[in-house]
Amino acid sequence: MNVLFVTSECYPLVKTGGLADVTGALPLALAALAVDARVLLPAYPGVREQLASSKNGATIADLFGGEATLVDGTTATGLKVTLIDAPHLYDRTGGGIYAGPNGHDWPDNHLRFAALSWVAAEIAGGRLGKWRPDVVHVHDWHAALTAAYIQFDTHKKRLRATRAATLLTIHNLAFQGLFPESTLAELRLPDEALEQGGIAYWGKLSFLKAGVRWCDAVSTVSPTYAREIVTPEHGMGFDSALKDRAEPIVGIANGIDLAVWNPATDSNIVATYSKPTSAAKAPNKVALQAELGLEPDANAPLFCVVSRLTEQKGLDLLLAALPHLLARGAQLAVLGTGDRKLEKGFRRAAKKHPGRVAAVIDYNEAMSHRMQAGADAIIVPSRFEPCGLTQLYGLRYGTLPVVAKVGGLADTVDDGLTGFQFEPVDQDQLTAAIDTACDAFATPVVWQRMMRAAMKQDVGWGSAAREYRALYERLLQARR
Ligand code: ADP
Ligand code: GLC
Repeated sequence: MNVLFVTSECYPLVKTGGLADVTGALPLALAALAVDARVLLPAYPGVREQLASSKNGATIADLFGGEATLVDGTTATGLKVTLIDAPHLYDRTGGGIYAGPNGHDWPDNHLRFAALSWVAAEIAGGRLGKWRPDVVHVHDWHAALTAAYIQFDTHKKRLRATRAATLLTIHNLAFQGLFPESTLAELRLPDEALEQGGIAYWGKLSFLKAGVRWCDAVSTVSPTYAREIVTPEHGMGFDSALKDRAEPIVGIANGIDLAVWNPATDSNIVATYSKPTSAAKAPNKVALQAELGLEPDANAPLFCVVSRLTEQKGLDLLLAALPHLLARGAQLAVLGTGDRKLEKGFRRAAKKHPGRVAAVIDYNEAMSHRMQAGADAIIVPSRFEPCGLTQLYGLRYGTLPVVAKVGGLADTVDDGLTGFQFEPVDQDQLTAAIDTACDAFATPVVWQRMMRAAMKQDVGWGSAAREYRALYERLLQARR
């Protein structure tokens, strides 16, 4: 079975968050189940250079205002990729993959990601020659317009009737790909696309809605989030559209790449370990404290955060709970970037409590491993969390997760057994959970027992990959 992953990011080539981790690891796990998966993504600057091998393939004369070349390649880890080399859309200096140096989204993002979907539809129609997808698996809003191009047969290939099944995975409903309705023609979609039940969304159009409306199935990245997003409280305006679908939204919790996140072999950390004990982790804690200018205090529970600093992640609650955390003799290390206000808040806290709080306002992949290896616990106080991966890395590294009981955090952490959960998501409950964690840390038999349970969890992709394969098979059956 051939599956085309369509995504805006993919580890290790380009990453801003968990989406990349998933699209970089799941195809490899599927390959082990005899699924031939290929990842389609834009050739942002520096991406092609990271491939172990690559060659130019088909060209598209006019991909939304310029020529594009499809580049087929393989990463060092064996991931098969097709890059869209379209300099007019993706070759930008400064800024990141979604926003320019001023922090504002690139003004042509609707075209940049329509192009991704457009090429996905081309590939569904046979653009890669012999390799043709049985399933087109689109991820988040950046890729969701694929379903509209297939629905309206913009490539004149009767794709809907004759070709691949389509699956949308929603990694985060907060990102909906909203643009003015007036962009419809530029997107090469007919007016019908906006009519009743189409991609119209409160006076705008939404890329994500195309996937929700016209993909054969919709999934999300944990069972709890699948239940949450069909409620008005968590549906972010999409609950009705999601509920209107004939089949319920499928929830499959993410796994992690056990080769990339393995404390026994991790080359980013000072001392590798496999024993589930604080003693085994100790050299990493010493090193992390030294690196971050924290007091070399083995008895202080060291909490860490590795996160985008946004409203979603609830880190304002942690800032509010900080005095209590410090009063318990604990330390805090934060690695993250995002909202200026939160960045400032953590910087200020570090300044105010030297040796007890450290804030690294940066995106640093290697340091994220050192945080996981060196800290005793990781705090994830999200207001909502489709799945969350850092708590899974925490489990694997014996770094007990302190998490809000929402979405995938509720599904992957066992309160009192592998970590600590709290609800509702507010400052008081977070403070109480930090308290419980400090108590447990002060009782080594309890802590070691929890570390053992955490590190024993099966957090790999195996079972989720089997669920995805079964879902693909169901979709193909339904097509026949
Ligand atoms: P989200 O995708 O919502 O940001 P996840 O927990 O699913 O949340 O995934 C976040 C990913 O990004 C993890 O791999 C995490 O380690 C990584 N990450 C987040 N912030 C940073 C940072 N500042 N430096 C390095 N890695 C980070
Ligand atoms: C999103 C979500 C996160 C999830 C990740 C990968 O960015 O915010 O919860 O783990 O996607 O699915």
